[in-house]
Amino acid sequence: MAVDRWVFAHLDHLIAFRRDLHSKPELLYDLPRTSAEVEKALRAAGCDDVIKGIGKTGVVAVIRGKSNTSGRAIGLRSDMDALPILEASGKPWASQMPGKMHACGHDGHTAMLLGAAIGLAQSRAFDGTVVLIFQPAEEGGAGARAMIEDGLFRRWPVNEIYGMHNRPNLPVGEFATAPGPIMGSVDMIDIEIEGIGGHAASPHQAIDPVPVAASLIQAVQTITARTIDPMDSAVISITSIHGGDAFNVIPQTLRLTGTVRMLRDAVRDHVEARLEQAVAGIAAAFGAKGKLDYSRHYPVTVNHQQETEFAALAAEAVAGIGSVCRDMPQSLGGEDFAFMLNEVPGAMMKIGNGESASLHHPAYDFNDEAIAWGCSYWCELVRQRLPL
Ligand code: NI
Repeated sequence: MAVDRWVFAHLDHLIAFRRDLHSKPELLYDLPRTSAEVEKALRAAGCDDVIKGIGKTGVVAVIRGKSNTSGRAIGLRSDMDALPILEASGKPWASQMPGKMHACGHDGHTAMLLGAAIGLAQSRAFDGTVVLIFQPAEEGGAGARAMIEDGLFRRWPVNEIYGMHNRPNLPVGEFATAPGPIMGSVDMIDIEIEGIGGHAASPHQAIDPVPVAASLIQAVQTITARTIDPMDSAVISITSIHGGDAFNVIPQTLRLTGTVRMLRDAVRDHVEARLEQAVAGIAAAFGAKGKLDYSRHYPVTVNHQQETEFAALAAEAVAGIGSVCRDMPQSLGGEDFAFMLNEVPGAMMKIGNGESASLHHPAYDFNDEAIAWGCSYWCELVRQRLPL
């Protein structure tokens, strides 16, 4: 019940690697330096194959065990991209790229999976094949889907897939997961309201889109509050309003954008249909035109029952019974790993980041103390799922 011994020999290297990525964050698919550094480090670790350019800038590494009598393979996945945030962590390794920041800890996830590569390539103490997946564009770019569409699971078929994400304010050395839907679907909405512009002193000669928007913003909240089962979870957040340029002009058009999230696909169909009705109907009631563009972005992240238990058992072997939560509360945050879980049975595990600013906060930083725990979890999971 502790972290793997071998990790300590590589910890300084892994921390330096993490801080280097942190200081030079890159966004979405635009990861030339990050993916090159990951590729170089995976080759140095002794992986059998390292392939880059999967899903644009994704990297895949393959490590074969001492034997392969089972013919089984498991996939371990990390994300690599940063966020468009101006960093305010004050750390010596803070971002050198103004307006870009590793505010979600993907630098730490990458370092932990690299650590696992080092340990697994050294020991080879497993039967079968491990496929390490470093994906781009987790933060809204559907990089997991891009890798799948680029043949990820066709070229490197795996029997099980596992992901890991850090969790602020869960103590370092603790883990948390849950079976079933753990994170929400992520959809984007774009609403255009078209009225008739005119002089602000003569509203009777115009159709003002501003009060249409005001009514609509109020009304859409009743879709979640009044038309779905209160025991179901769904949220509609209108997050931007654009329209109008002058104090004395009624604008012609107005645009609203937002996000819709839920934990069940049936609720998703319902909310989309109701939003469509509300936008068209409310605009029509004012004599205006309303148009909804609803795009389904990330699916619900659904942990598979059995694999969640496998993940929890591996975490328990590392962290000890009592340090692994199996009924982590659900959230409506999105996770690109959902695409992979829709293809292959698997589970997402959360690893404690200790006391820290929240994810996506300008003062956030991944906690290097979690690295040894994460590397050990990955290696233990491989030992348990691909036993010699
Ligand atoms: Ni993240």
